[in-house]
Amino acid sequence: MTPFFTRTLVATALLSLAGGAFAQDKIKVGFMLPYTGTFAALGVAIENGFKQYVDEQGGKLGGKTIEFVKVDDESDPSKASDNANKLVKRDNVDVMVGTVHSGVAMAMAKVAKDNNTLLIVPNAGADAITGPLCAPNIFRSSFSNWQPGFAMGKVAADKKIKTAVTLSWKYAAGDESVKGFKEGFEAGGGKVVKELNLPFPGVEFQALLTEVAALKPDAVYVFFAGGGAVKFVKDWAAAGLGANIKLIGAGFLTDGTLEAQGDAAKGLLTTLHYADDLTNAKDKAFRLQYAKTYKLQPDVYAVQGYDAAQLLGAGLVAVKGDVANRDGLVKAMEAAKIDSPRGPFTLSKAHNPVQDFYLREVTGKVNKNVAIAVKGLTDPARGCKL
Ligand code: BEZ
Repeated sequence: MTPFFTRTLVATALLSLAGGAFAQDKIKVGFMLPYTGTFAALGVAIENGFKQYVDEQGGKLGGKTIEFVKVDDESDPSKASDNANKLVKRDNVDVMVGTVHSGVAMAMAKVAKDNNTLLIVPNAGADAITGPLCAPNIFRSSFSNWQPGFAMGKVAADKKIKTAVTLSWKYAAGDESVKGFKEGFEAGGGKVVKELNLPFPGVEFQALLTEVAALKPDAVYVFFAGGGAVKFVKDWAAAGLGANIKLIGAGFLTDGTLEAQGDAAKGLLTTLHYADDLTNAKDKAFRLQYAKTYKLQPDVYAVQGYDAAQLLGAGLVAVKGDVANRDGLVKAMEAAKIDSPRGPFTLSKAHNPVQDFYLREVTGKVNKNVAIAVKGLTDPARGCKL
C-alpha cells in the first residue's frame, strides 16, 4: 500500500470514529404554533400534550433527549415561510411540529418538502397536506378538514334536516369544512341553500346572523374555533335564532371553549374525533395526568399534541434514536398503531389518521359522546401521489 492510501485509510477511520463519538445525543423539536391571537389557547394545548407524552417517557424518545425550540406563528400565513425557514435553517431542528391554522401549515409543508425536514402537523386540517402536498416526510396526528364536516353532513341528513346554510371563516379550513359537510349532507338528501362567510379571524357576525334569520333554513352548519368560536356561540344565543334553527358544527365550535361559552353552548351538536367522556383507559389516564400537570381540562388540541409525540416516538424507538435513518423512521411511523386518548388509530397511505368521529352534545361543561357518527373515517386524499 502506498503512503497516500495508508494516510487516506487512517483519515477515513478517524473520521468515522469521530462521527460515532459525536453522533447526536439529542433530538431537536421545533414547535411552530400560535401563542397569540384567536388560536393562542390551541397552540398552548398542543405543546402541553406533546410535552406530557415526552415527560411520561422520561424526557427521551428512542433513547434520545428531546430538546425544544419554539416560534409564535401568530396564525399569520404571510409570516409562515420565514418562520418555518428559521426553524429549519437557523435552529437546525430535526422535526417541525405545527401548526393550528391551515394556511400557515401549507407554507410549512412547502418548506418541509423543499428541505426534506420531517413535519408532524398536530392540528391544521388543510386537505392539501394529505392531498396534493403529501410527502414521505409529512405526517398528521389530527384530521383533514373534510373529515368532521363530512361526518356532520351525514348526521344532519340522517336526522332528516332538509335545508342548511353554512357559515365560516373564508380560508382553507372554513371552505374545506363546508365542502365536507355539503358532500355528506347532500348525498343523504339535504340541500345547502347558501354559503356565508367572513374573513379570518373576524368576529363581526351580526349582519350574517340577520341574513340567516331571513333565509330560515332548518339548520346552520358552522366552522369556527378558539376565541372566534366563543364569540360566535354567544352572539348566536343572544340573537335567539336557536328557537327555530338548529346550530350544528365541526366540533371545534365547542372544544376547549365551554368554560367561556357558558350556557350559550347548551345542547349544541357537533362532530369530532374526540369527546370529553370517553371511557377508554388511555383517555382516563391522559386526562388525569393533564389536569394534574397543567391545572386545566384537556381538549382535542392537547390530544393531537400528545399523539404527535406518540407518532414521533414510534419512529424514533424503531430506529433507536437515529434520525438520520429516515427510511426506517418513516416506515415505523407509517405502520404505527397509536393508542390515543381518542381511541386507537392508524394512518392512511397519505399519512392522515383513519379514525372514528363522535357525535357530541354539550351537556354542562362537557362535549358528551352521544354516538359514533362515522366509524373509521378515511380522508379521500384527493390528489395525493405517494
Ligand atoms: C385550521 O385552520 O385548519 C383549523 C384551525 C382551528 C381548528 C381546526 C382547524
